[in-house]
Amino acid sequence: MENSRPCLRRLRMAAVTAIGFFASILAARPADSATSMDNDLMPVPAQIRFSPGRLRVTEGFTVAVGGYDDARLQAAVSRALGRWKERTALRLDRPAAANAAATLAIDCRGPGHVTPSLDEDESYALEITTRQATLRAPTVVGALRGLETLLQLLSRDADGFFLPAVSIRDQPRFSWRGLMIDVARHWQPIEVIKRNLDGMALVKLNVLHLHLTDDQGFRVESRTHPELQSSGSDGHYFTQNQIREIIAYAKARGIRVVPEFDLPGHATSWVVSHPELASLPGPYAIERRWGVFNPVLDPTDESLYRLLDDFLGEMAQLFPDACIHIGGDENNGVQWNANPHIQAFIREHGLNDNAGLHAWFNRRVSAILAHHGKTLIGWDEVLHPDLPKDAIIHSWRGPESLASAARQGYRGILSNGYYIDLVHPASEHYLNDPLPATTTLTIEEQRRVLGGEATMWSEWVTPETVDSRIWPRTAAIAERLWSPREVRAVEDMYRRLAVVSVRLEEAGLGGERHHDLMVARLAGDRATPDDVQALRTLVDVVEPVKDYHRGGLQPDVVQSTPLTNLADCARPDSAAARNFAESVNRFLFQPGTLDRDQAAGIIRQLGVWNAAGRRVAAFPAGTAPTLNDIAHNGRALADFSAVGQEAMQALLSGHAPDEQWMKTRLVRLHQAGEPGPAAVEFPILPSLELLVTAAAEQEKRGALAPDAWQQHLRAIAFPSAPPPI
Ligand code: ACM
Repeated sequence: MENSRPCLRRLRMAAVTAIGFFASILAARPADSATSMDNDLMPVPAQIRFSPGRLRVTEGFTVAVGGYDDARLQAAVSRALGRWKERTALRLDRPAAANAAATLAIDCRGPGHVTPSLDEDESYALEITTRQATLRAPTVVGALRGLETLLQLLSRDADGFFLPAVSIRDQPRFSWRGLMIDVARHWQPIEVIKRNLDGMALVKLNVLHLHLTDDQGFRVESRTHPELQSSGSDGHYFTQNQIREIIAYAKARGIRVVPEFDLPGHATSWVVSHPELASLPGPYAIERRWGVFNPVLDPTDESLYRLLDDFLGEMAQLFPDACIHIGGDENNGVQWNANPHIQAFIREHGLNDNAGLHAWFNRRVSAILAHHGKTLIGWDEVLHPDLPKDAIIHSWRGPESLASAARQGYRGILSNGYYIDLVHPASEHYLNDPLPATTTLTIEEQRRVLGGEATMWSEWVTPETVDSRIWPRTAAIAERLWSPREVRAVEDMYRRLAVVSVRLEEAGLGGERHHDLMVARLAGDRATPDDVQALRTLVDVVEPVKDYHRGGLQPDVVQSTPLTNLADCARPDSAAARNFAESVNRFLFQPGTLDRDQAAGIIRQLGVWNAAGRRVAAFPAGTAPTLNDIAHNGRALADFSAVGQEAMQALLSGHAPDEQWMKTRLVRLHQAGEPGPAAVEFPILPSLELLVTAAAEQEKRGALAPDAWQQHLRAIAFPSAPPPI
């Protein structure tokens, strides 16, 4: 039960370390005008040129909408001013002025598509001089994208708020820039969806993909077959009115809503009310665990297609988007193999095997969707020569299926590498490109690659934690999908991600707000402020275990288990660990003598961690529900930092400890860092391992160039799995 999906790539080795410092030094600065280094914009615009001068933002600020205007644009302008008002505490709601006199003149050429569409023109141009800002766009959606850029440009100096003089021409690199939210495993109510739509708009994402049905829940109201949600959802589903509300909220932000109904596998919640449609006799109950399960619909049963025609026809009316996602992933074949009638059907129809039957089923469903005016999209298992060529392939198992689909004439989107539920760092997702510079696809094939989607599977998230898993990392994915391919400097991405993170909270996301409450709750009612601070320090340096390892460490977790523990408080991408790695790298590998000031900073940090770890380890029994797990990790942190302190003393004293010292310390670090039942890991470990190795090997430092010295240490510290440089 450990893996709910086969494990994807495990790119991340033990560490952190150096992606930040060294990679950023080596990374070529984009040669074009994508000068992300000069500003905080995320995603970086296609073209940007700054000029000297500033446009002051004061209470005299006025906005005029010339050209095309409508309620959607006006609402977006009001929202934008509302967010600026919060940030500036200025009254910015003066009546609109004539275009020539307004501080911000918006010139929109037309409405664009009535329903947000794949071929929407999202381009815009923004000119800011010391006298006026002008936003020009061919469509309302383009104007919305430009407004978000404008919001991000607001800066402050000693004289108050201002916009820098700048000229921007911008349009997205990919037309499909999505976020999938799984509302089936853990129910995510409408407030979660709405605030995430606000986050999506902020970073110019344009597709919300709702994973509405799975083994653990049927989350949409059907009026033709109400038994589906009434038996399959525990009462947690979107009513049709709520779906309309979500669609309207998304449309106001220029975002499409694509629904997914996972078929024919991942279908337990369908057969709770319709056991006759499963491939083996029931009864069936809503699944409460995570994994790949056997229940699968029986494609040989004609009554299935009658129900699907009713249901998909109804959904086709409800969801205006051109696409309906039919899932199609992870049918394990157990039920089909065990049903002699199904196997006979495969033989009689010349379908070869289960894959042939799945393709046959997809053709039937595709015809139903076509009848209702919709295009089929499915996970990469639906790729089969018999699939109609207008279908879209959603690649999750590897980039190969995306390329293979494009070569065969299908359009595709990439999610492999954007699985944010695997809690990998933003840098990995950021460097994962749907069309890398090394692509071997022809220009025509490349055009079929529409973009990508971050996927928020919800086995391990609740409404309280989901924002912290989606954001801010999804902003890095949004940049990959919007900005020019050459925009790839990881350190600069992290610099801007920290700024965007604050903007996301302002826009209503709750990652950090919820985090603070969760840490305080975890510390327990009897905790003092110092206890809470110590726990916060611990939480800041741990990350949840990656991939699907948590299920192996916490095998008893089911749908109703609270997710309020250390791993839930831990952020996926520890900034404290990243900063520490940068300090250690700078300290160890810069040329010249060791810098005492830098050493003092590292020693101070280790002291803070040591004290926090000891304090957490000594929390009074009964303080917190999972005290033992926390205490174990507190002891580990205290132990790590004590080892780091020893290494720093040795480095500063100039006396190398012997090899035995190094070996025992490396073993100690390794053991203390093993993920226990709390299912967290310590991304500061590789930096500590480097310090220990450097202390023992310091005599070689003078004889080696910084690069060679680094290679030498890494070969000792990470003999089997060196972290990437
Ligand atoms: C998937 O992750 N099973 C699409």
